[in-house]
Amino acid sequence: MQTGVPNGTTSGTTPVAAAPATSKPAQRIGVPREIFPGEKRVATVPEVVEKLIKLGFAVSVESGAGDAANCSDDSYRAAGAQIVDTAAALWASSDIVFKVCVPTPAEVDLMREGGILIGFIWPAQNPELMQQLTAKKATVLAIDSLPRMLSRAQKMDALTSQAGVAGYRAVIEAANAFGRFFAGQITAAGKVAPAKVFIAGAGVAGLAAIGTAVGLGAIVRANDTRAEVADQVISMGGEFVAVDYEEEGSGGGGYAKVMSEGFQQAQRDMYAKQAREVDIIITTALIPGKPAPKLITAEMVKSMKPGSVIVDMAAERGGNCELTVPGEAVVRHGVTIVGYTDLASRLAKQSSTLYGTNLWRLAEELCKAKDGVANINMEDEAIRGLTVTKEGNITWPPPPPKQVAAPAAAKPAAAPQAKKGHGHGAASEPMAGNKLAIMFAVAAVLFWFVGANAPGAFLAHFTVFVLACFVGYMVVWNVTPALHTPLMSVTNAISSIIAIGALVQIAPPAGTTDWIRWLAVAGIVLTTINMFGGFAVTQRMLAMFRK
Ligand code: NAI
Repeated sequence: MQTGVPNGTTSGTTPVAAAPATSKPAQRIGVPREIFPGEKRVATVPEVVEKLIKLGFAVSVESGAGDAANCSDDSYRAAGAQIVDTAAALWASSDIVFKVCVPTPAEVDLMREGGILIGFIWPAQNPELMQQLTAKKATVLAIDSLPRMLSRAQKMDALTSQAGVAGYRAVIEAANAFGRFFAGQITAAGKVAPAKVFIAGAGVAGLAAIGTAVGLGAIVRANDTRAEVADQVISMGGEFVAVDYEEEGSGGGGYAKVMSEGFQQAQRDMYAKQAREVDIIITTALIPGKPAPKLITAEMVKSMKPGSVIVDMAAERGGNCELTVPGEAVVRHGVTIVGYTDLASRLAKQSSTLYGTNLWRLAEELCKAKDGVANINMEDEAIRGLTVTKEGNITWPPPPPKQVAAPAAAKPAAAPQAKKGHGHGAASEPMAGNKLAIMFAVAAVLFWFVGANAPGAFLAHFTVFVLACFVGYMVVWNVTPALHTPLMSVTNAISSIIAIGALVQIAPPAGTTDWIRWLAVAGIVLTTINMFGGFAVTQRMLAMFRK
């Protein structure tokens, strides 16, 4: 792994915080100016620079890198970064480079041999870039390859943070092109009906768009091919409009699949109806590795009211609307169709801050010792997923993830007897009949044995214990999985009723040993922590569901 300090031309003299004493010298993170035409984002912002320095890294930023995101060279300097005049000097002096856009061949040429690069790479779409990076013996962490379903990885999920910004911005673009209010109003000059917005595809960007449009006062409807999305749409304040056709749209890993021709026809009928009714359509539908599905036909556009707006967030992948022109806003049949492909970049300060925070969280994972030295731990599932080349060797694609939190499996129509709920019941293979019979037989023999041999007092307790297990199982398994944590914490608190047992024992009968008293004291202390802690956690969890 590379180490070292800058040898490039620097115009700033701000001293960089010294890293804690370590066997290896602290590494330098470099942030170049993005050169993709029109790109306004930057890979870090001054607030994040301070946090990177606290991890022990030194930070350099190319002069002007943050200008378009309202981050001046001076603000970076004040945060402790060095400002480097040229891209060449920046790349040459950095052990680790943080970038937003996929690097160009010219940028990779500037990279240090054996350096680390972190940013969007899209390895499947850029095989030549991958070859060029391996020739540089680079270690590359592609932020787009993060295993998003690992809950631990959410803080590093730049796809989600950028899609959220883009979804918000799509609504703002729609409002800009739309000639009316979003919220309904009753004024002296007359009554204004609320705008009706239809969102096609309610993934991360779609849900952000729903939240923003609802916040502006519009009536919002949404559709998605994945059934589990319906609840999320409702929780954001929208109305889920289902396609009148039975087919599960989940293609695994939280993503969609290409639907059957029958479904697509039924979906077109429903979308045609929505197009006639609504004022604004925002489309976000994508399927991994496929062109964007065409959901809005020219006929549908024609049927919309004059002055209506379509924002096609899938424009970069061919668009969800037949008439979209990627990168442009055009008017067709009186409808403005916005096909901008840089929605997140249009909110550069916000998207850069979120992106910078994602990369800082990743830096934290890479540098747990806070000694300014990145350790690419290939045993860590999140880091393994991100790492597409390691010291010049291609390590992409990664092995399949071990612990993916798959979305709730659809109930298979052909297996109505499958156990309801979550966990092993719904997902596992139905147990073979003879296996089940053997299990019951063994359990029955065990019960008989206990009943025939155990003393009467034990039997009474044993019966209560078995019944308690059964009731506990039924209670927990019938509660929706999202509420399991508050349920468990409150159960924990209630289970501290055993404190009563300890209270009884605190004054042991005369003649018994003193250690019973001390055991009872310890029991009371521990159960008190359990009780108060349990209620406190429950309270905090439930507060998250309140507005
Ligand atoms: P995406 O950008 O690939 O697709 C956007 C949406 O379009 C998806 O909801 C998809 O179902 C929908 N879609 C595709 N074809 C469609 C069609 N023909 N008609 C209507 N809708 C269609 O997906 P995105 O937003 O990147 O993420 C999708 C999901 O992944 C999220 O909703 C979430 O469930 C999951 N996810 C989970 C994370 C986590 O657990 N940490 C993090 C990020 C995403």
